[in-house]
Amino acid sequence: MRPVLIETERLRLRNWREADLEPFARLNADPRVMEFFVRALDRAESDALAARERARIDERGYGLYAAEVKASGDVIGFIGLADVTFAASFAPAVEIGWRFSRESWGSGYASEGARAVIDDAFTRLGLETLVSFTAAWNTRSRRVMEKIGMVHDAEGDFLHPAIAPDHKLAAHVLYRIDRAMWEAARPGLA
Ligand SMILES: CC(C)(COP(=O)(O)OP(=O)(O)OC[C@H]1O[C@@H](n2cnc3c(N)ncnc32)[C@H](O)[C@@H]1OP(=O)(O)O)[C@@H](O)C(=O)NCCC(=O)NCCS
Repeated sequence: MRPVLIETERLRLRNWREADLEPFARLNADPRVMEFFVRALDRAESDALAARERARIDERGYGLYAAEVKASGDVIGFIGLADVTFAASFAPAVEIGWRFSRESWGSGYASEGARAVIDDAFTRLGLETLVSFTAAWNTRSRRVMEKIGMVHDAEGDFLHPAIAPDHKLAAHVLYRIDRAMWEAARPGLA
């Protein structure tokens, strides 16, 4: 297993290490980071999430990777791929997702990492399509989806099955990118 799976100009996307657990727990406990989730995670839940993704990355070669800033060595969150396992019109599918510490927002890290994850999905992993979804009013995350070339598929918008239908976070928007869209957007390709 390669320790670093994906490298960008400023980020290393790699499997999880023991030392990542503390900074990861801090961002998972931050209500600003978790605004669009039903609740924040406690330390045990955060550690379990990192352990689960570590095992998945080892087993399948993809998952939600620890995102490390090369210049500082700091782990600022995760970005990567997850299998959509709940019942939905677009499942089964592979989702691209991200979650970063509040201090790291606004520097383009999510877009930079996501572009590299998409390239990797369509090359190394040979996937044909990717989805992404979020609570409808998570404008920051939707902006990342648009910046990286994903398009809103309004027909796929859905109520998240794990959230009570009358909850303000239940309504989710679906975005997609497929291989043809990715190839068309790549510079230098005919
Ligand atoms: C979503 C998230 C990963 C974005 O990280 P980031 O590194 O700041 O993202 P980037 O800097 O690459 O891009 C953010 C874009 O959103 C824009 N943006 C920021 N706040 C915004 C807002 N309130 N409304 C609209 N756009 C907004 C930024 O201007 C930027 O776009 P620009 O480059 O065109 O100016 C980060 O905010 C986060 O971790 N949020 C909490 C977790 C989360 O919601 N995850 C997604 C759940 S599906």
